[in-house]
Amino acid sequence: MFNSLPGFREFYPDDCARRNFLFDTFRRVAHRFGFKEYDAPVLEPLDLYIEKSGEEIVGQLFNFTDRGEREVALRPELTPSLARLVGAKASSLAMPVKWFNIGEHYRYERPQKGRLRAFYQFNGDILGEPGPTADAELIALLVEILRELGLTDKDFRIRLSDRNLWFIYLEGLGFEESKATEILGIIDKSEKISAEKACSLYEEALGEQAESIASKVDAMKDIKNLCALRELVANENITDDARAKLDSRLEDWTTLNNYLEALGVSSFIQVDLGIVRGLAYYTGFVFEAFENEGQFRALAGGGRYNNLVKKLGGPEMAAAGFAIGDVTLTDCLSRRNLLPDTTPTPDITAILGGEDERLAALHDLAELRRADFSIVYPLKNQSINKQFKNADKSGASIALIYGEEELAAGKVRIRNLATREETLASRSQLVEELKALL
Ligand code: HAM
Repeated sequence: MFNSLPGFREFYPDDCARRNFLFDTFRRVAHRFGFKEYDAPVLEPLDLYIEKSGEEIVGQLFNFTDRGEREVALRPELTPSLARLVGAKASSLAMPVKWFNIGEHYRYERPQKGRLRAFYQFNGDILGEPGPTADAELIALLVEILRELGLTDKDFRIRLSDRNLWFIYLEGLGFEESKATEILGIIDKSEKISAEKACSLYEEALGEQAESIASKVDAMKDIKNLCALRELVANENITDDARAKLDSRLEDWTTLNNYLEALGVSSFIQVDLGIVRGLAYYTGFVFEAFENEGQFRALAGGGRYNNLVKKLGGPEMAAAGFAIGDVTLTDCLSRRNLLPDTTPTPDITAILGGEDERLAALHDLAELRRADFSIVYPLKNQSINKQFKNADKSGASIALIYGEEELAAGKVRIRNLATREETLASRSQLVEELKALL
């Protein structure tokens, strides 16, 4: 037997049913928030991701040269494609754009718990709205999707941070943008590496200043709420210009906080400046959803990316969004027994007295299927006993029994598979009879 490739899943019908349960929930909640579904190609020009997505993702691309000598890559994420789609039609699209997608993505990562090489994401994004109303709407959408799946604030939290605040803070301490970006890169990595390794990265980047900056960064990362953040900013020794910018940014935080509270999701929010996001394009508020207990990978992540549309040749356009991954989410739901048994079952199963009854049954079944009943029947000749056993196993609630005698009288026997009660129905009245029962 051939094996599938490492990190790629096969979906047997039960797995597909579970996946569809997630996707149906994503669609239902996104619809409540007024998001419209869109799609984009799975294969894209390699250049779309180089520099736009950042070093980490570029190192994980599935890329190759196609037969037309084009450098291409399977999409590792959707955000650059979305930015291109919206940028290309910006002048004709009604703003703000609120769009979602459910699709497969590909990253050549080492397959491990929560990480595969092919995985699905729900992406929700808002483009054309720079204010915190959009950030709040997105965070609320993320929370409501997870709540709809049965998770509560005991199960998960949204770690909320701000790259903009970090940049103002680090510039206030005297760092240029490129150095600040480097420091944020170390903060992002420090979640995944040892403290010693993080120290040596700080030393490489900052030399003598390494220790003092690392301790300032640690103090920022320890902040757990808005009050503590205000206090830290008030006591910090930074330039006046930086202080004015920080104060104004703290007002955005307060506004966002008020919106989140009004939207009923503030109990899920945890201020956590340790989240800076690995992707290169984020500019403002960023967030990740994590389970409260255990050392599991993020359920979702996202944030603001106000420069990406322009970088891809489109107009200046504010944008923000997030993606939920199906791998960590399915693990999380299954550990809590929150994945219902959703394998679809037929409404009706037909039982044939013998091959002589098959044509009459097929005739009726065709009509019932057009009336939207789901019906199965044995494709080969089987004993009545075997058919009754299969009917009980099928999950159907009704069996239609096609016997020689009943057919001669223009009738079919309807059996309730739960109570085993049987009634006779006229073949010409079957649709009505069954509509009354199901
Ligand atoms: P991301 O943080 O790279 O963000 O991915 C979002 C989620 O996708 C992760 O939290 C995780 O659940 C899932 N995910 C990522 N990589 C893997 C993997 N190898 N295996 C399984 N699951 C994975 C983005 O992709 C951004 N483009 C999100 C975004 C949308 N930002 C703005 N709009």
